[in-house]
Amino acid sequence: MELFDVYPLYDVAPVSAQGIEVKDDHGKTYLDFYGGHAVISIGHSHPHYVNRIKSQLEKIAFYSNSVQNPLQQELVGLLGKLSGCDDYNLFLCNSGAEANENALKLASFHTGKSKVISFSNGFHGRTSAAVATTDNPAINAPINKQQQVTFLPLNDFDAFEKAIQSDNYCAVILEAIQGVGGLDEPTTDFYQFIAKKCKENGVVLIADEVQSGFGRSGAFFAFQHHGIEPDIISIAKGMGNGFPVGGILIHESIKASYGLLGTTFGGNHLACVATLAVLEVLEQENLIENAKILEDHFKQGAAKIPQVKKIKGRGLMLGLEFDFEVADLRKRLIHNQHFFTGGSKNKELLRILPALNISKDHIDQFFEALNKELS
Ligand SMILES: Cc1ncc(COP(=O)(O)O)c(C=O)c1O
Repeated sequence: MELFDVYPLYDVAPVSAQGIEVKDDHGKTYLDFYGGHAVISIGHSHPHYVNRIKSQLEKIAFYSNSVQNPLQQELVGLLGKLSGCDDYNLFLCNSGAEANENALKLASFHTGKSKVISFSNGFHGRTSAAVATTDNPAINAPINKQQQVTFLPLNDFDAFEKAIQSDNYCAVILEAIQGVGGLDEPTTDFYQFIAKKCKENGVVLIADEVQSGFGRSGAFFAFQHHGIEPDIISIAKGMGNGFPVGGILIHESIKASYGLLGTTFGGNHLACVATLAVLEVLEQENLIENAKILEDHFKQGAAKIPQVKKIKGRGLMLGLEFDFEVADLRKRLIHNQHFFTGGSKNKELLRILPALNISKDHIDQFFEALNKELS
């Protein structure tokens, strides 16, 4: 048997990691400015995270959602407190796509409608409804094209108003900061307009915080920079710091009923302790504050590099735009300088998604390395 060959791979094999450092099978150390695609939030193998998971593993790793799981209650309490979203309820699943799948399904149940508004360059995952709301025809199979999705440009008030008034929509799905699309974000005015129009038209507003959530943008959720209240918030990635876990926060105005949603693995004991450990470290180490402080430090450093044409993003969800494609630069940063970085649909954008506990010194080292490769 061979692996189904769907990923173009860099020739590097990480075998251990600690904090922001990743070691390969030849003992070479890399600095992780990619966070395994915005997943590593509190640093690789954080001791509190490792202890929490290890000790849970020795007690019980899994039981189904047919019995009480006090860890889920503990998680709901801490997540509500730290996110400021304690008027939402939590449904747990296993990945970002699955979170959006459940969000869209719930919106459809709630409204009795089926069409969705999504935005140009949006990315929401690769499963049925989630991929249909993703602006990339190449990853939509014929079976996915059965979903009815209208793609609109960000910040086009007229187009949005015209569409939403047609009365067929169950949901609007939006990333507060686009990840895979290349770090564009709507204006606060546009976000507030969307929220208002969704309310007026009985359409469910879904904030996809799979990548931007859990402090990455310098607020617990990126939509919080815009002062709005979505009906559903989808979460994953940084939530588990590498443990596969996802979920949706559902505003209490949307009611649950038995059997409405369900999953085998979602909310299992290990996923709960992984997420609890992430939340505990975010709080104890002030990592959301750190993301804000380091955003400024990063942007100041980036502004000194003449080849950088635009600096995008917030917190530690950042991008540097050049006037050339960055694929080769990313390769050289890995192999010559030992830095992992990210790419995006915008081929001229280098994405920076490190753990939220990196230091100013790490950022300075990154700019030194980048300068070497650009000169
Ligand atoms: C904003 C956003 N939503 C959803 C997803 C899908 O998440 P997953 O790959 O865990 O299914 C991603 C993944 O990159 C994402 O960035």
